[in-house]
Amino acid sequence: MKIKLNPKDHGFLMIKVKKRKILLLPGDGIGPEVIAEVRKIIDWLNKNRSLDFEIDEDLVGGAAYDKHGTPITDEVFYKALESQAVVLGAVGGPKWDNLEFSKKPERALLKLRKELKLFANLRPAICFKQLVDASSLKPEIVSGLDIMIVRELTGGIYFGEPRGIKPINNGERKGINTHTYTSKEIERVGRVAFDLAKKRDNKVTSCEKSNVMEAGQLWKEEIQTLHDKDFKDVQLEHMLADNCAMQLLRNPKQFDVIVTDNLFGDILSDEAAMLTGSLGLLPSASLGAKDKNGNMRSMYEPVHGSAPDIAGKGLANPIATILSFAMALKYSLNMDNEAKELENAVQKVLNDGLRTKDILSMGNKEVSTKVMGDAVIAYLQK
Ligand code: IPM
Ligand code: MG
Repeated sequence: MKIKLNPKDHGFLMIKVKKRKILLLPGDGIGPEVIAEVRKIIDWLNKNRSLDFEIDEDLVGGAAYDKHGTPITDEVFYKALESQAVVLGAVGGPKWDNLEFSKKPERALLKLRKELKLFANLRPAICFKQLVDASSLKPEIVSGLDIMIVRELTGGIYFGEPRGIKPINNGERKGINTHTYTSKEIERVGRVAFDLAKKRDNKVTSCEKSNVMEAGQLWKEEIQTLHDKDFKDVQLEHMLADNCAMQLLRNPKQFDVIVTDNLFGDILSDEAAMLTGSLGLLPSASLGAKDKNGNMRSMYEPVHGSAPDIAGKGLANPIATILSFAMALKYSLNMDNEAKELENAVQKVLNDGLRTKDILSMGNKEVSTKVMGDAVIAYLQK
């Protein structure tokens, strides 16, 4: 199938989402190994729960560049457009570091986020009780930690125009990026955060730099307006992003849902993830808007990266990707029960002391990526 898409004329968004179609994009580094474990789980569900997921798998990132000279082909982009959920492993690695900007593996990820309009990125930071000692913070600070970071994903300085590097006087150059937000962009991600808070501890902390940036001031005002209009009974707190970075280390359990822009969300979510001591366990979901039939585009990825140093050795932890798929079951595929089953299976495997190398500690048993995946399936079977 040869398709020529022109992302400039947004006509391609007429492409309909196919129910139950899942696209797996393993990507680079440890991506293929962790996605292979999810694929086993999907196959198991198809067979044992008589589900009818239609699975496709394709190249993205550096792997796609090596084969096709581009980090994502139009065909793969088209497949993503018609999928109800995309599950992505990871992209990037030193091999592709010196490519020009538009060819870098990361561009595929940014294109998928932007063109699929996945504006709300959900990044839970949960401290698993079995791993409380893996955190660099004291156990009493992090035990029971359960934060949800909602990161705006299609706006802000990641995508703002103008951008580029241009020559200026005296042989000097100037690098330019632009931080912009519209009311609508802020409102729609704010709504996702408030809706989530209602199902959790009913508190939203909104982070910006309203003390130095106009876009931050607008962010604060729009979130407050939305709160006063539609979410009066949710507790809302505004916090400067630098203070939030500090409070996350001082007393992370004060937070329930944090909503913030693309760049601050990138940084704060890494910080929050590391509080838990188990980057290898943290999933994420990137969600678009629902269409009039209730269908939504979405992409699920582990928070960890491609970890090229351990790729191909069976050392990678597949749990973050497995839990990302559990999020897909919950948010995209309307299968809450199966999502819970999968989450419970992961908990039991951790209770049994099975650990991949990244989370290994005394008294536990080191297992490979594949054995970890098999152990999860064994608990689904029980
Ligand atoms: C993330 C990553 C990406 C980002 C990179 C890989 C482009 O750090 O998902 O947090 O900056 O958004
Ligand atoms: Mg990041």
